[in-house]
Amino acid sequence: MAKADLILAIDQGTTSTRAIAFSLKGEPQATAQKELTQVYPADGWVEHDPEEIWRATVEVTKGVIAKVGAERIAAIGITNQRETTVVWDRKTGKPVHNAIVWQDRRGAPLCKKLIADGWEPKIQAKTGLLIDSYFSATKIAWILENVAGARAAADKGDLAFGTIDTFLLWRLTGGKSHATDVTNASRTMLCDIHKLDWDDELLKLFGVPRSMLPEIRENASAFGMTDPRELGASLPVAGMAGDQQAALIGQACFKPGMIKSTYGTGCFALMNTGGRAVLSKNRLLTTVGYKLKGETAYASEGSIFIAGAAVQWLRDGLKLIQQAGETERLARSVRGTGGVYLVPAFTGLGAPYWDPMARGALLGLTRDTGIAEIVRAALEAVCYQTRDLMSAMISDTGTEVQSLRVDGGMARNDWVMQFLADLLNVPIGRPVVVETTALGAAIAAGLGVGIIPDLKAASANWQQEREFRPDMAEADRERLYAGWKTAIGRIRS
Ligand code: G3P
Repeated sequence: MAKADLILAIDQGTTSTRAIAFSLKGEPQATAQKELTQVYPADGWVEHDPEEIWRATVEVTKGVIAKVGAERIAAIGITNQRETTVVWDRKTGKPVHNAIVWQDRRGAPLCKKLIADGWEPKIQAKTGLLIDSYFSATKIAWILENVAGARAAADKGDLAFGTIDTFLLWRLTGGKSHATDVTNASRTMLCDIHKLDWDDELLKLFGVPRSMLPEIRENASAFGMTDPRELGASLPVAGMAGDQQAALIGQACFKPGMIKSTYGTGCFALMNTGGRAVLSKNRLLTTVGYKLKGETAYASEGSIFIAGAAVQWLRDGLKLIQQAGETERLARSVRGTGGVYLVPAFTGLGAPYWDPMARGALLGLTRDTGIAEIVRAALEAVCYQTRDLMSAMISDTGTEVQSLRVDGGMARNDWVMQFLADLLNVPIGRPVVVETTALGAAIAAGLGVGIIPDLKAASANWQQEREFRPDMAEADRERLYAGWKTAIGRIRS
């Protein structure tokens, strides 16, 4: 019989679902992917069909298993778009509503009320989060208030809540395992990140019965065995982590002060702060980085809602480009944007502004403005927003940023990475394996079954593909960034 020498990661993201089998050296061996339909029922609302997510997960996972053979898979790791909320009936297994996606703003009025009632300091102290509809709590509350019969069923203990990790685990194990991991739990706004347990006062505040909630576990643990009726094989799910924390693990940011920034739909920068949960004075989030082998590492997080999504908008909304890959050539074709700034606040502004009512703008247009300038402004905006986050992190932690590890689709764009290095004035490191999110889930699963012995072994595989070094005059850097700050000031609600 072949040796089990691979780890299979399921990466359920906002726009697609992927499965990747990794070798123990962290090299991808087989991949399958499926796009996910976005549902926009009203302004600021975003949903996914949980059944579509489930079908896609089974399809891509089975696809990879078919390519490599089930006997070679030592363990499965799950990573996922965080905060996105599913509530389902425990008996039938059927969701009572579409998944409410992290970008969805329908909880904003409740958040506004809680802020006005003075809840923010307490919620920040317990959960590390700022009150915002981004997190799961107001999404669960909305479902319980608005879906007919949901409140009564929840009170009877008939409903289960899960972020996508939990929903997939529950389905993969044939309804046997209702669990989450510390990182996903830390994004619900219901979890005390110091105790790593659900908080009764917050459960009461949001009207969520404890019986709905999954058990919280470390990132590497025995989450359950897959039901052979689902995947055709019984395999251990041994690792789980929210996608941004999984990327922190995949980028081997295991030491305090190390930072990774992932450029997907949005951009999420996380700095490992070690055993210290640093509460932000600059409106960043404090979150659980990971808990592995009994040790908890916290992270300071800056979340930007629109990064790659701005390029998608250039392609699908404005039809200025046909493929994302064209943006690099267009950005290089001009010497600058000519003073044009694009602020992509399509769903409000995330960190450090947290302004759900702000909307996007294109500023500084002249008769000379063409497609290249607008495309370049969209790419630059991602870098300006990263600088906003870095400034806040430095001020919170007192740590100077030595370097930044990048990943995600946009990290492949050399022009963006060079502009980022120039604007932050720090070296940018791009790893050989840019699938760091899936890799992080695989590492957690490998640690869970012991096939990866420790974090040292996990770090040993990290390799840099290219470093981008800062190469811009200080005066230019500061002039460009000052223009961004002015643009931001003009769109605040
Ligand atoms: O917090 C939301 C985040 O986890 C979503 O990540 O990669 O699906 O855009 P992504």
